[in-house]
Amino acid sequence: MRTLIFLMLFSAAITAEAGAADKKKDTAYLKAAERFLKSDIVKQKNCNICHTIGKSGGTVGPILNQVSNRRSVEWLRKWLKDPNEVKPGTKMPNFQFSDIEIETIVGYLKEMKREIDGTEILARNSNLLEAGKDLFQSYDCLACHRIGKTGRFNGPNLTWLGIRKTRDWETVWLRDPDAYKPNTFMPNYHLEESEIEALVTYLESLTGGENETSREWESITAFFLDARPRERGRLVSERLACWSCHGPNLDEGERNPNAQPDGFVPPINTSYIDFEEEDLAAIIMQGSIPLKIDADGQTPPFSCPPWNDALDESELDDLLAFLNSIVPESAKWEFE
Ligand code: HEC
Ligand code: HEC
Ligand code: HEC
Repeated sequence: MRTLIFLMLFSAAITAEAGAADKKKDTAYLKAAERFLKSDIVKQKNCNICHTIGKSGGTVGPILNQVSNRRSVEWLRKWLKDPNEVKPGTKMPNFQFSDIEIETIVGYLKEMKREIDGTEILARNSNLLEAGKDLFQSYDCLACHRIGKTGRFNGPNLTWLGIRKTRDWETVWLRDPDAYKPNTFMPNYHLEESEIEALVTYLESLTGGENETSREWESITAFFLDARPRERGRLVSERLACWSCHGPNLDEGERNPNAQPDGFVPPINTSYIDFEEEDLAAIIMQGSIPLKIDADGQTPPFSCPPWNDALDESELDDLLAFLNSIVPESAKWEFE
């Protein structure tokens, strides 16, 4: 009996030990982030005004805690040397770092990497949807994306992803974003096919479930900024991620093979003067499916989704005011 109790205690001690080791592994990236937060560089340059590092910080840039799960050392060097060269128009300043400073920063960022075992994550969840959600959280996709009122603004808001993109498209995208769209800012995670399958199952389930929390957040933000109608309209267009198809400035759409007239999603920066307001509202609320160039050819991958579940009347009004505000002066002049 005594040996049995002893064995039980002994094995419990081993399990506790293994648990502690797991935990230690899991939080190493956070400890590395805390070290970076306390470094001279962050103190001098205030990176945390824009970035969350450790538990707090700004919301302008991506959350940096797991940055090395998605960026290589070479990429980080290039980025720190001249962000604008990698992503033209970015809000990240060029700090004119010396090579030595860059190596110091990269030294910290390299450690900000979480050990993720995809196979284990797939095995510990009872279905693909749960596994996909777990992977999405483990890889910290909300470092750039947003669902409801959590996450950041450096990638398209995913609250309504499921109604605008297909599984097939998402699968191609996650395999290698840069192959689909050269120079995109979305990183390549070099995921296994089984991980992609689970992630896509989760992504397809995002059909507005967190819409109410986004909506509340927008109303409060607009109230405090006194930003109706135009700025709230902009926030609404961000929630629905119009830019994920119509381009970052809504003036240059994505490729849309075999879609009339030219195989691209149309720009919408002049829509406010191209259409009567009533017709514009109808396109937005009811959606629009492009005609094919070649009638026997492929169905164009993108159509304009119907947004009537995502918008109430005041939001639609503000969205229209926003579309009015982005019409370039030159286009108005041509129109008159
Ligand atoms: C004025 C805001 C601002 C400041 C200050 C700032 N950044 Fe950034 N940073 C950004 C933005 C915004 C991005 C994402 C690019 C985009 O969306 O345009 C970014 C991206 C990054 C990335 C890539 C993250 C990823 O996941 O790909 C790294 C690394 C980075 N910043 C490091 C730093 C460091 C180190 C400092 C301080 C020396 C710093 N940043 C200061 C705004 C800022
Ligand atoms: C460093 C920032 C960043 C991180 C982290 C990130 N993404 Fe992205 N993602 C982007 C950007 C930027 C785009 C838009 C790319 C473009 O149009 O060039 C994008 C686009 C997407 C899209 C298409 C969205 C749409 O509206 O059509 C999906 C899906 C996506 N990302 C999924 C993920 C998943 C899953 C993860 C985590 C494994 C992830 N992203 C992590 C930046 C990021
Ligand atoms: C999944 C990709 C996608 C998203 C997201 C999207 N659109 Fe579209 N949109 C399209 C496509 C494709 C067309 C062309 C439809 C056609 O030819 O009938 C289009 C057409 C339009 C048009 C008519 C433009 C024209 O000149 O014919 C307007 C206006 C428009 N979209 C507004 C929006 C707004 C506002 C949002 C965000 C609330 C949005 N779209 C989100 C794909 C998208």
